[in-house]
Amino acid sequence: MTRASAPAPSQDDFPNAFLDDVLSGLSQPQKSLPCRWFYDARGSALFERITALPEYYLTRTETAILERVAPDLAAMMGPDAVLVEYGAGASVKTRILLDAAKDLRAYVPIDVSEGFLLETADRLRADYPILEVRPVVADFLSEIALPPLSDPAGRRVGFFPGSTVGNLSDADIDRFLRQARRMLGADGRFILGFDRVKPLSVLLPAYDDAQGVTADFNLNLLRRINRELDGDFDLSGFDHEARWNDAASRVEMHLVAHRAQTVRVGGQTFDFSPGETIHTEDSRKFTPERMKALCARAGWSVEALHSDPDEAFSVAVLRPA
Ligand code: AVI
Repeated sequence: MTRASAPAPSQDDFPNAFLDDVLSGLSQPQKSLPCRWFYDARGSALFERITALPEYYLTRTETAILERVAPDLAAMMGPDAVLVEYGAGASVKTRILLDAAKDLRAYVPIDVSEGFLLETADRLRADYPILEVRPVVADFLSEIALPPLSDPAGRRVGFFPGSTVGNLSDADIDRFLRQARRMLGADGRFILGFDRVKPLSVLLPAYDDAQGVTADFNLNLLRRINRELDGDFDLSGFDHEARWNDAASRVEMHLVAHRAQTVRVGGQTFDFSPGETIHTEDSRKFTPERMKALCARAGWSVEALHSDPDEAFSVAVLRPA
C-alpha cells in the first residue's frame, strides 16, 4: 500500500478508519475495539512503562534471549543483509541486532506512526552512520514493497519481536507471514518473538499490574475516543480486567461497565448494562508446536528456536519451507 518513493501516508490519511472501527466494534453483541488504536502518544508512553514493569516479563526475557543469540543471528544474516522490522516502534531491541551485525547493509523499519518512525530513523542514522536506514510508513498487515536500496544487497531478514504476533488472529498471522515470505524472497529469513503458555499466576499479573499502568493503558482508549471522536465515555464508569481464555490460549483485556450507562460517539448512542464489557485486546500465548503449525501453513519452517531457561518466551528463526 505504501511506497517509499511516493508521499508516505499516515493514519491521518485515513481519518474515518478509527471512527468506523469504533462504531462497528461498539455495535456488536460482544462490544470490542481493535487494539491497534491503543497507541496514541499517551498510549505509546504507557506501553513503554508497561515494558519496564516487574510483572511484564516479556520484554526483559526476549531482550536477554536476543542479547545471548545476537552473534548467531548476525552470522545467519551474513554480509550486506537487509533487516526489515514490522511495526518497528522505537526499534529498541533492533539495536541488539544492529550492534552484532556490523556488516548489515540496510535497515527498513515499517510503522504506521510517521512522526515516531522518522524520529527513530534519524537517531539510528546518527548512531549507525554507514547503515542505510529506509523507513516505510505503513500498516505492516498491508502489502508493502521494499524501498529501492542504493546497492545490490544480501539476504533479507524480517524481524517481528515483542510477541506482537500474539495480538493477531490466525487469519492475520497467515496473511502477514505470507506477505513477508513474498517480500523477503526465497533466501529470506524471519526472526519472530512469541510468548509461551505458562501458569496464570504469571500471565494475569503481566496484564493487570499492581501499579495500574496496564489499567490506565486500557482505559486510555476511551479517553482517545472522547478526544478524537467527540465521545462522552465517563472513564470512572469502567474497570480494567485481564482474563484468561483457555480455549483460545490467550489473555483478553476488557473494559467492564460497572453500572448501566449510555455513551455517545460520533452521533450514535450505545447502551451498556452493568457488567457488560468492551473486549479491547487478545494476547495469545503459544506452544512451539502451535507456532510451528501456523508458520508452516504460511510457507515457513522453523530453522532455530531460542528460549530462556524457563521457556517463558521464544525467538524463532524461520526459513522458507
Ligand atoms: C504489544 N503487545 C505485544 C502487548 C502484549 O503483551 O500483548 C500489548 C500489551 N497489552 C497489555 N500489556 C501489553
